[in-house]
Amino acid sequence: MKSPTSLIRPLVRKLHPYVPGEQPRIRGLIKLNTNENPYPPAPAVLRAVQGAVDGRLRLYPNPTSQALRERLARLHGCLPENVIVGNGSDELLALAVRTFVEPASLGANRSRSALQYFDPSYSLYPVLADTHGARTLSEPLGESFALPTPAELRRRGRWDFRAALTLVTTPNAPTGRAFSRRELAALCKAQKGVVVLDEAYVDFARENAASLAFRFPHVLVARTFSKAYSLCFQRVGYMLGHRVLIDAMDRMRDSYNVNGLGQVAALATLDHLSYYRRGFGKIRATRDRLTRELTALGFEVLPSQANFILARPPGMPAERWLEELRARRILVRWFRYPRVKAYLRITIGTNPQANALLRAVREIV
Ligand SMILES: Cc1ncc(COP(=O)(O)O)c(C=O)c1O
Repeated sequence: MKSPTSLIRPLVRKLHPYVPGEQPRIRGLIKLNTNENPYPPAPAVLRAVQGAVDGRLRLYPNPTSQALRERLARLHGCLPENVIVGNGSDELLALAVRTFVEPASLGANRSRSALQYFDPSYSLYPVLADTHGARTLSEPLGESFALPTPAELRRRGRWDFRAALTLVTTPNAPTGRAFSRRELAALCKAQKGVVVLDEAYVDFARENAASLAFRFPHVLVARTFSKAYSLCFQRVGYMLGHRVLIDAMDRMRDSYNVNGLGQVAALATLDHLSYYRRGFGKIRATRDRLTRELTALGFEVLPSQANFILARPPGMPAERWLEELRARRILVRWFRYPRVKAYLRITIGTNPQANALLRAVREIV
């Protein structure tokens, strides 16, 4: 009998899987590590989900999330054919990789099997490339984590303007820096392959780039109900774009990829957008106050357009700060990656949570 390990594809054996933020169950813990919204879903959304827990659980949900796609199409001024819904935007990012990128082992030309992204950005992208056997191109962002212009990328000489798929997080994670629609449009214009603008955090920003999904046939915009709409638990995300690209992804999708309660919750959410917009205002205000107060305490805080900040703490390594804060029941995120390992990523919580964080920081300082 062969060892079970020998049954596994070499690519899978070598894989470094994505490491999600911790979800510990510690009483009284202030959880600022996974960019969840500190405010609950609208009461009507909870009622809608509770009301849907009945004999219907026996049945399959709508396979194409039809009603939800129609509502999203109205929201974005497009057709349902321009919208695909997924089990979180993570599923759609993976689907985009499988739909547009040829595995390198199939011997396609280099660009056809290239998945490229900026460093740092969402740490799932390299994992998606590796699971698919794509060729990974990771290009450093500029000074202060700025988006390089196409001219700069040409000068540097590594960027592939023909890459099958380019993934751009905007506002970026974990930096919080937003790229303007103008800069993104210039990049999209220069790319020949598919570009996904991953706008998971865009509701906390000053502007968005959704219009680029309709201006360019090769650009997709990804959104999620997880962060801004307090629905991480339900796993609903969507992409907007040209019907030909959306249709191609649709063909690769599992038949019942979005669960029924998720569809119910997302539809109810779209009926109560003003509730959520009030929450965005509160989160932005807390973010800006935390930025000011942590700066006054000696932190270097990058200006953020998201529901988190990236902050370089003073006096000792960020990893030590992580432990000191954890000892005070405050959980933030630290990434070991070279470009950001001197920083902590702190999710914006409620005002009382921000006060508790500031108290702990004063104690540690
Ligand atoms: C940049 C970015 N995109 C997408 C996602 C995935 O969100 P979802 O919950 O919709 O899968 C995340 C979650 O952390 C994220 O940070």
